[in-house]
Amino acid sequence: MSPLAERMRPVTLDDYIGQEHLVGQGAILRKSIETGVLPSLIFWGPPGVGKTTLAGIIAKQLRRPFYVLSAISSGVKDVRDVIDRAQKYAGELKEVPGNPILFIDEIHRFSKSQQDALLPYVEEGVLTLVGATTRSGLLTAPLLSRFAIKSRLEYYPASTLKKIVLRAAAILQVPISEDAAGEIARRSRGTPRIANGLLRRVRDFAQVLNDGNIDIGITQHALKALNVDEHGLDDMDNRILSTIIEKFKGGPVGITTIATAVGEEAGTLEEVYEPFLIQEGFIKRTPRGREATDKAYIHLGKNPFQGNEKPTLFD
Ligand code: ADE
Repeated sequence: MSPLAERMRPVTLDDYIGQEHLVGQGAILRKSIETGVLPSLIFWGPPGVGKTTLAGIIAKQLRRPFYVLSAISSGVKDVRDVIDRAQKYAGELKEVPGNPILFIDEIHRFSKSQQDALLPYVEEGVLTLVGATTRSGLLTAPLLSRFAIKSRLEYYPASTLKKIVLRAAAILQVPISEDAAGEIARRSRGTPRIANGLLRRVRDFAQVLNDGNIDIGITQHALKALNVDEHGLDDMDNRILSTIIEKFKGGPVGITTIATAVGEEAGTLEEVYEPFLIQEGFIKRTPRGREATDKAYIHLGKNPFQGNEKPTLFD
């Protein structure tokens, strides 16, 4: 991570905004941190919503040694390298005083037997394993059952993301208007990583074109120039919607069929992309499959009533 992105990351629980169900007053993770009793835990949720950040905060608050391994870290050719390292690491960490925390990102990438190999280290209680995954469906039942806290991190509502943008702007020391922060928040796909990234891009525009002030005008100009979707949807989101609409007449269509059409795994669609599209009302789950909503048609500039029997306002 760049030094700037690193500076924008919250380091204490009090800096952390959102995910109240986990870190709000009386919530499970806050209690764990306050009492110092931290069982192994798993964070599950889409990319960029704060899994690594939260793990780092926990380690810092508890003053515990913190070791990070990623199943997709650069320089690792094969996931077997990572598990070898994880096991070696876990073995070595047993020698580290202070009950270290081992954070394993993308833990679902480990095969079943690789996941099994981690169990003894978790069980002996000499280290705390914090796993993060975008795909909880790929974790084995034995490993899942060892995690006493299973936390789902949610997409952030725009009102919460706006606070994150304002906080980050203060750290970057850039002046920003309330409505500009709200606009960036609204177009960030519920994801702080995206919001902070966009803030920096918009700041660059503001510095060149606007004396460094981020107002609504420069924000809209920059987001347009950066091709950021009005609702923050990314390429894959838009491909999913256009596939359902154009290839399958708006659905209902099964998730595996959509997956084949867009060249992605069904599980990834289901756990990474679909939750946001459902939350924002672009698709619906029905017993017969996924359906595009009117909002999806309108978003793609299409007539929602085309091709079905509903009387239309557009004739
Ligand atoms: N930056 C990224 N995620 C954040 C969060 N949840 N709270 C505060 N700042 C953040």
